[in-house]
Amino acid sequence: MNFIFAFILFALLTVNAAPFQLSKRAITFGSCGDAHEPIPLLNVKIGTNPPESEKSESFEVSGKVTKVDIPDQATINIVYFDNDRKNLGNYFKTFNETIKAGTPFKISLSDVPTPRLPHSYELKVYVDDESTLACANAIVG
Ligand SMILES: *[C@@H]1O[C@H](CO)[C@@H](O)[C@H](O)[C@H]1NC(C)=O
Repeated sequence: MNFIFAFILFALLTVNAAPFQLSKRAITFGSCGDAHEPIPLLNVKIGTNPPESEKSESFEVSGKVTKVDIPDQATINIVYFDNDRKNLGNYFKTFNETIKAGTPFKISLSDVPTPRLPHSYELKVYVDDESTLACANAIVG
């Protein structure tokens, strides 16, 4: 009897605590590639973590592509997806200069608009030039 009561109490507390914890938990970025197709990992730092719906966010993206140059027309892309892989909002900027293979680079973006964020979403940051040259993503919720 006591056990059941304790269990119900625990369940109630867990349900109540969950939305608050999820909304405040900092997001972390990891690799987008898989074993078949490894993609160089970008190091991503964001100013406000977790991102806030419909505010602007700052990003500092650094990394290194060892196999190919990053051409000057390549773009750095920031895209939010919902659970159904629907694009919620995207942002890009061109590199403007060629980054030689193996050279570390760092890009700071100060005003990236955050879309209205659902409970769960994916935030993907990638360098694109016809194919994805480097990438990182965070799966949230
Ligand atoms: C590339 O040039 C455009 C236009 O001058 C500028 O807005 C943008 O910030 C530049 N990209 C980078 C990564 O600095």
